[in-house]
Amino acid sequence: MDKVIARIRGAAERQRAELFELLSIPSISAEPARKADMQRAAQWLLTKLQTMGVKSEIIPTPGHALVYGEHMAAKGAPTVLIYGHYDVQPVDPLELWTTPPFEPAIRGGAVFARGSSDDKGQVLCHLLAVEALLAETGGLPVNLKILIEGEEEVGSPNLTPFVGANREKLACDALVVSDSAFFAKGVPSLVYGLRGLCYIEVFVQGPNRDLHSGSFGGGVTNPADALAGMIAALHDSERRVGVPGFYDKVRPLSPAEREEYKRLPHNDEAYMKELGVSGLTGEAGFSTLERVSGRPTLEVNGIWGGYTGEGAKTVLPAKAAAKISCRLVPDQDPDEIAKLLEARLRALAPAGITVEVKQHHGGRPFMAALDSPYVEAGKAALEAAFGKRPVLAREGGSIPVVEAFSRELKAPVVLMGLGLPDDNPHSPNEKLDLEQFHKGIETAAHFLALAGKVGR
Ligand code: BES
Ligand code: MN
Ligand code: MN
Repeated sequence: MDKVIARIRGAAERQRAELFELLSIPSISAEPARKADMQRAAQWLLTKLQTMGVKSEIIPTPGHALVYGEHMAAKGAPTVLIYGHYDVQPVDPLELWTTPPFEPAIRGGAVFARGSSDDKGQVLCHLLAVEALLAETGGLPVNLKILIEGEEEVGSPNLTPFVGANREKLACDALVVSDSAFFAKGVPSLVYGLRGLCYIEVFVQGPNRDLHSGSFGGGVTNPADALAGMIAALHDSERRVGVPGFYDKVRPLSPAEREEYKRLPHNDEAYMKELGVSGLTGEAGFSTLERVSGRPTLEVNGIWGGYTGEGAKTVLPAKAAAKISCRLVPDQDPDEIAKLLEARLRALAPAGITVEVKQHHGGRPFMAALDSPYVEAGKAALEAAFGKRPVLAREGGSIPVVEAFSRELKAPVVLMGLGLPDDNPHSPNEKLDLEQFHKGIETAAHFLALAGKVGR
């Protein structure tokens, strides 16, 4: 392994150049105008894999293509499937970026660009580790499959059915995913839980046209006001979600798990200071860390209606709308929660308005079994590269397809995130710490070496 690590360290400059190339491609899956850029990103990965000596193909889907590669030459060794995504989130608000999102720039030991942490940089760590292993040893310690998709940020609508339909092709002994973050800088974490997602949009219609608020206000239900009231009723005074049935399938946090949470290094005061807030609210009876990763929530993502231009316009709007999402924990089901939420919104609507609900993409929650030797390999790999034993932590975010992988392939999942919690994914000035990137490559190499020894 020493030689492989030395080779990785000797190639830092080229690795950065390649990271910059990949980050320069604006592969925003949600924007139809970026179709050609999506194809360019897939092509870049295909060429990279092929040049490394990994047999690879682009697999078209009804949406954005998958990039798939295999290196199956390690007789008798386990098979590891690496998953990641090359699509990124939209960049707005653009004016808040210090440097343009697709012109990678280094400041303070980090590279700033959309997709640097989520997830192109983390994907590249794995590719560069495979490259170094192949170049140094002429082979790999495992049989390798690698699948990089272009639709994670839009809910993996095509990959999820693909996994079910291609169980044999994707069959593996373990799945490894680097698409999350350390608990803190210097505190690596092995993630064992991801929340699910249920996302809806609610449209509220009142009168058949905008009205003069002087002539009609007070007599006609105002849809914006009605929607605000309905949304307010979606939480009770203890910040529990006010949707009947919402908690029915929630797996409670075990006393042992709650003890683990207490051991994680977290301080509400410092957290508030870093975020620039003067207080915190959340579900009564739970700590901040529990609230943001181990408990289900409901959030308004956007709300609009009526006059929002300059100055004052006295109007009683005809319509209002909101985007609302719930983060889910095992064993909540996104479709069931959407139905409960819709029923609740309808029940809360005052006379004089109609309610329409549209469901967007979602994802199932996931909890990894921790008793797998591959999880142990993930922990040992992080420790080998970063010199610290990782903590076990649940994540509040979602990677929708992970649950499908686990269910369809019946393989243990190793969530070995390499980002940092302040990387600003989905926000302006997303970054990847360069130390995380370079040590991340070493981590990925150690992981494959250790995984190759499982069962032997
Ligand atoms: N990499 C994230 C998931 C994530 C976020 C893991 C934070 C750990 C911490 C992923 O790319 C993501 O953003 N997922 C979306 C899923 C959604 C679009 C269906 C999310 O969580 O909002
Ligand atoms: Mn991601
Ligand atoms: Mn993301």
